[in-house]
Amino acid sequence: MEAQFFEWICPTPEALIRQGEVFGKTLQSGDVVALEGDLGVGKTTFVKGIARALGVTEPITSPTFNIASIYSGTKVTLVHIDAYRLEVGMTIDILEYVMPPYVVVIEWPEHFQELKSTHRVTFSVDIEGVRHLAVTGI
Ligand SMILES: Nc1ncnc2c1ncn2[C@@H]1O[C@H](COP(=O)(O)OP(=O)(O)OP(=O)(O)O)[C@@H](O)[C@H]1O
Ligand SMILES: [Mg+2]
Repeated sequence: MEAQFFEWICPTPEALIRQGEVFGKTLQSGDVVALEGDLGVGKTTFVKGIARALGVTEPITSPTFNIASIYSGTKVTLVHIDAYRLEVGMTIDILEYVMPPYVVVIEWPEHFQELKSTHRVTFSVDIEGVRHLAVTGI
């Protein structure tokens, strides 16, 4: 089957959270979501919506020192990885410590040497500051 491709346009952080929620509802245990895009483009904002869809009640923060955060959802655990501070080419074995069922979302996936993602969301910003999301995997 051919991969489907969607473009979502989000003019505000709230729109991005809502779109993250819509996207999050399509996720299943074992899914690995790569979030690609420059600093400040809205990746963590989108994760807030995913977390809402998964029933996470804790607030999602952008980690300063830690690379991975783990949140309990209703049916699955959300593993949020920000690989920005990970040296390019390194891997982390966080998943050895998390019991399934879980969904993984990764900011800066290009810092991983080999990442097998099931979904990919590529963020960009236009001249008006509107976020454009190119989505594959749903
Ligand atoms: N659609 C949007 N329109 C305008 N501003 C937005 C939008 N989405 C997010 N922002 C703002 O951009 C800022 C950065 O967002 P966010 O932390 O989600 O980016 P990020 O891609 O995770 O960055 P980093 O790579 O540093 O982790 C936040 O202040 C947020 O409110
Ligand atoms: Mg972020």
